[in-house]
Amino acid sequence: MRKALIITPLLLLGISAAAQPKLGKASIDKVIDAMTVEEKINLVVGSAGDKSTTASATVGDFGALVPGAAGQTNAIPRLGIPATTLADGPAGLRINPTRTGTRNTFYCTHFPVEMLMGATWNTALMEEVGAAIGYETLHYGVDVLLAPATNIMRNPLCGRNFEYLSEDPLLAGKMCAAEIRGLQSNGIGVSVKHFALNNQETNRTGNDARVTEKAIEEIYLKPFEIAVKEGKPWTIMSSYNRINGTMASESKWLLEDRLRRDWGFDGLVMSDWYGGTDPVAMLKAGNDLLMPGSKSQVKDLRKAVENGSLSTKDLDRNVKRILEYIVRTPAFNGHKPDNKPSLEEHAAITRTAATEGMVLLKNNMTLPLAGCKAAVFGRTSYSFIAGGTGSGDVHHAYVVDLIQGLQNAGFTIDSGLEKTYRAYIKKKDKGAPKGLKAFFPIELIPEMPLDDVDLLALADANDVAMITIGKTSGEFEDRSITSNYGLTDDEISLITKVCGAFHSAGKKVIVILNVCGVVDTISWIESPDAVLCAWLPGQEGGNSVADILTGRVNPSGRLPMTWPRAYRDVPSAEDFPNPDKISRFKSMKSMGSFVGIHSKPGRTKNYDYTEYNDDIFVGYRHYTTKDVKVSFPFGYGLSYTTFEYSDPVLKGGSVFVTVRNTGDAAGKEVVQVYSTSNKSGRPARELIGFAKTDLLPKGASQTIEIPLYEYKSGMSLIIARNAADPDPVTVVNSKSLFR
Ligand code: BGC
Repeated sequence: MRKALIITPLLLLGISAAAQPKLGKASIDKVIDAMTVEEKINLVVGSAGDKSTTASATVGDFGALVPGAAGQTNAIPRLGIPATTLADGPAGLRINPTRTGTRNTFYCTHFPVEMLMGATWNTALMEEVGAAIGYETLHYGVDVLLAPATNIMRNPLCGRNFEYLSEDPLLAGKMCAAEIRGLQSNGIGVSVKHFALNNQETNRTGNDARVTEKAIEEIYLKPFEIAVKEGKPWTIMSSYNRINGTMASESKWLLEDRLRRDWGFDGLVMSDWYGGTDPVAMLKAGNDLLMPGSKSQVKDLRKAVENGSLSTKDLDRNVKRILEYIVRTPAFNGHKPDNKPSLEEHAAITRTAATEGMVLLKNNMTLPLAGCKAAVFGRTSYSFIAGGTGSGDVHHAYVVDLIQGLQNAGFTIDSGLEKTYRAYIKKKDKGAPKGLKAFFPIELIPEMPLDDVDLLALADANDVAMITIGKTSGEFEDRSITSNYGLTDDEISLITKVCGAFHSAGKKVIVILNVCGVVDTISWIESPDAVLCAWLPGQEGGNSVADILTGRVNPSGRLPMTWPRAYRDVPSAEDFPNPDKISRFKSMKSMGSFVGIHSKPGRTKNYDYTEYNDDIFVGYRHYTTKDVKVSFPFGYGLSYTTFEYSDPVLKGGSVFVTVRNTGDAAGKEVVQVYSTSNKSGRPARELIGFAKTDLLPKGASQTIEIPLYEYKSGMSLIIARNAADPDPVTVVNSKSLFR
């Protein structure tokens, strides 16, 4: 009886079971020849669009092969085609930590967010972190990690900047390529996202990015180009937005001409989740896979094949790319997940990686600091933020908060103050949001007012004060200028009051920024003695911060983006949504992507369309050219030691320089090479190469090679300690040395 059930449909289709070509045994072309149109459509549409499958998956679907994965491709068992699983990225693998029917847990390591990794400027470390995430991906049975993300941080308000690497295309591209190499070294694939120009979350599924070709090429496509050429990703994820009027996912120019023809990309392109408006246009443009898939897409494609508006040739081309992907996957190659992913080893990797990306912004003879008595302020000190929300989140087993981190490092925490904070948090905290709500940006509870706290007594009883300021964000929404980019009145008053009391007792105050991006510092930075930007550092955050505070690790992070003095100084300030003026509902219309609404082109500036009037002058390219003072320049970061450069020469497309540690602590230096120009229309400085030294002991030196990207003869080159360094070292061409 069972046999008859299987054979009958095949016979109805006129297909004999014996003649089935199997993927991997027969050629891909033969397999495609044997496919019915319905099967082809079910392959280009993700499994949420296939009503026959029992293993459909969209975000968090428990029917999935790997619960909590973001999606799957469909299986066609008769042709030997397995289902494959795709899950987020990028700060670790995002799957559900528990499953029905078992007491086993499936936690993943929460690594630092990409923004922090960008601040390491360390491609080898990025590769190592990628390899660890990829290992968990493989061992939990996922075929593709939906990461890395490498959109340019065009404006500090973008809600997803924490998932991106830099405002500079070279740094973003090189770090992205390194992450891909690490991830894919495990035999799993990546999906580099969001291709391209997805630089704002407000109305992200409808917004039209209006940009010159020059800016598109030099700034916005560049990180993807480097990532494709140097990382060789298996897949790319097209973005939700339009580019100069055309949906990115429906742009043949983007997906075929630039990506495939010009850069040699040979993998598949998938849509962002529910992205695009016209599935036929998407397939024709080279967006091979529609994720997570919908029934209406299946219907539209069926109709298009029937009426000839989608040719077999086009459809077969997309199918072929998907099959070429499938044969590379662990699922196809018979990999059986053991669900045992080295979490302990990876905790050590995330702890080290996080310390390397933290940026010391200010240090008034305060750090490093040996374990002592500390009064710890700020609600976030007691519940450290590991990462951002939305698809960029990771279900971690634990987060080391600042209190634990400090205690592990030998500090004694003021227990009265701790008790007060914990009671306050318990009262205010409504618990983690559940279901789809957990996917949206969360609002942190307000800072605790200090009215009932005797600050002078605390200053008397402790050696030092520490304050953590926390900010988080995620997809669907950009950051408020007043309360996310800017510190709230409560936060500023916290800093001011604590500094007042502790300074009057001759004690120091350290501020730790546990933040999802650039924050305003001008209004408060004068007060504290030291400021450490810890970003969103992953699950070992408290230990990593303590490693820096105590000097166990010498800070070597450098800002991957500029921190302006005021938001109005940002070159795209006028050409970016102001989230404070847009209702949450309207901003989240991008959420419409989850319910099938796609906003049509409209006429509201910075909402329906955004003009990129900043052109190529993004971030430091603007500030250095227009001589605009900033709070902290791109490339900036303090160390507990000093470095001296000597003999910088240009030889065979690389700069060579000797870096000597002239201070007292062992440390690493980031060497930044910029090309300079005073031509109108060109940025005054552009990063053209960078490298990080090994850990140099006191007095040691290292001659380091910095390969240059797109060097053209005659360029004038400098080594600068950051983009605004007034006293850079000029690089000498080796030929001119012998003249
Ligand atoms: C995000 C992607 C993510 C996908 C799947 C979308 O909302 O933009 O980055 O990979 O969901 O979770």
